Amino acid sequence: MAAISEIAPDIYRISVFVPEFNLQFNHFLIKDEEPMLFHAGMRMMFPVLKEAVGKLIPPSQIRWIGFSHFEMDECGALNEWLQIAPQAQAVCSEAAAMVNIEDFAIRPAVGLPHEGVLKTGQHAYRFIKTPHLPHGWDAGVMFEETTKTLLCSDLFHQNGNVVSITDKDILGAHREAMLEDQKGPLMDYAPYTLKTPKILANLANLQPKTLATMHGSSYNGDCRQALLDLNEVMKEIFGKEETSLWK
Ligand SMILES: [Fe+2]
Ligand SMILES: [Fe+2]
Repeated sequence: MAAISEIAPDIYRISVFVPEFNLQFNHFLIKDEEPMLFHAGMRMMFPVLKEAVGKLIPPSQIRWIGFSHFEMDECGALNEWLQIAPQAQAVCSEAAAMVNIEDFAIRPAVGLPHEGVLKTGQHAYRFIKTPHLPHGWDAGVMFEETTKTLLCSDLFHQNGNVVSITDKDILGAHREAMLEDQKGPLMDYAPYTLKTPKILANLANLQPKTLATMHGSSYNGDCRQALLDLNEVMKEIFGKEETSLWK
């Protein structure tokens, strides 16, 4: 079952909670002349997601399928969407288009350069390159300019079946989730590199009104500050010298 909520004008969060992982997978459908689905989702989730999208628009009308980086929850079902939506195209970083989607997808993707803008009617998406943030050399995020919504993928990942959107702190829950992951096979969720503070400061400068997160609650508090504070949390958890892995 998917839960649908409008987190900003025209921006619908379609959330599927997987109890086995204690994790929400959130996909964002943005209604427009050229509708965008941000996060194609996993192949195994496609039937559920298709039914949920169908409550908002005919799925065959999807024009753009955006995502941050090549991973199954970001774009696993890309080809399923491309098959049912004849006008649809993937839109992602130039790197993702070049090194992943070119071979993976049944139709060519549009690779956006850093600061490249895609207009879809009422809405416009500014693509921001964020290599290795949250992970993957092809990573990027999209900033929907009319609603000031940052489609920020795995940034601020929180566990649990949480509320769709909040203005209360989400960084505490993010920190807890990352510390939990550090104990298991999903450790080192994101690298902390010399570029991380600059990339996060760049995102903070966009002054988003809403952070549309893939896992956990979206956020509509002080997004600028949250992005700056995220740097501190990531530095604390991922910025340490490795001491255990190669003992
Ligand atoms: Fe990811
Ligand atoms: Fe994810």
